[in-house]
Amino acid sequence: INKIGVLTSGGDAPGMNAAIRAVVRGCAFQEIECVGIYRGYQGLIENDFEELNARSVRNIISRGGTFLKSARSKEFQTIEGRKKAYQNLKNADIDALVVIGGDGTFTGALIFNDEHDFPIIGIPATIDNDINGTDFTIGYDTALNTVVEAIDKIRDTASSHNRLFLVEVMGRDAGDIALNSGIGAGAEEILIPEEDRGIERLVESLKKSRKSGKTSSIIVVAEGDKSGKNIFELAEYIEGHLEDYEIRVSVLGHIQRGGSPSCYDRVLASKLGIGAVDALINGERTIMVGIHHQKVVSIPLDIAIKNGAKYDKNLRRVADITSV
Ligand code: F6P
Repeated sequence: INKIGVLTSGGDAPGMNAAIRAVVRGCAFQEIECVGIYRGYQGLIENDFEELNARSVRNIISRGGTFLKSARSKEFQTIEGRKKAYQNLKNADIDALVVIGGDGTFTGALIFNDEHDFPIIGIPATIDNDINGTDFTIGYDTALNTVVEAIDKIRDTASSHNRLFLVEVMGRDAGDIALNSGIGAGAEEILIPEEDRGIERLVESLKKSRKSGKTSSIIVVAEGDKSGKNIFELAEYIEGHLEDYEIRVSVLGHIQRGGSPSCYDRVLASKLGIGAVDALINGERTIMVGIHHQKVVSIPLDIAIKNGAKYDKNLRRVADITSV
């Protein structure tokens, strides 16, 4: 391996910059050239490359987002687009790629590798934490802290006005953010995409907690929850079935994706960035570097994207017991 290309793709996540920095400096340490590819796979198709050295990544460890920019490339989903990408890599003498992103990024990498047999290593970075084979993805810890801080603030106003708040958090397919931030912020109810406990149970539980003396409540709702209603319809439904509870909705949105990465995410990103360069040098291909019990591990990319509807059932139990 003489020259590595690095890109970030899909939804950005805090800590992506720290991961790029570690890849670039890992390359410098191993005396491998490193090329930054802007705007993910789209930049690969459009030849948007820049040589990076150890100094190119100064002062970025603390910055959210990704300085290489990110995109969800439609063109890379076509055979022609991927052919162009391959040609550009060949022309630039790049002989391996490190892709930083989530399941969409890894799926693209797998197809590309199938067609062109190109060495690729994935680094999991998404606030959703929905990648198989790694205990945590880069950005997840920061997003959780952002969400908990926001819900703490919402609780102040909820309790001052004796209101019930529905707070929507990100997670189209994964409830990790909702479940963990919900427990961390002491939410009364948490709705996640992986399970459908029914809207009637929700209303009954809220009635019960009202009777037990609660004057305000927080319901954390993951974007992709299974109630079959959007958060505003859900609020209306609950209002129609609960007496004298004023309801408000707060959609946290993209603030969850921004901000300076937590120390945990910076360290994780640094470990995985170095791990990716090491993996390439050791001849590993088409794998993701993940973290398991604090150690960097290698997971085949096709296994990494098979997250399914898994969630920690013990966390659900903890949430139910502590929110009474
Ligand atoms: O994949 C990360 C994520 O934040 C999801 O939780 C969310 O559904 C999605 O990205 C939103 O992405 P965008 O607004 O960039 O389309």
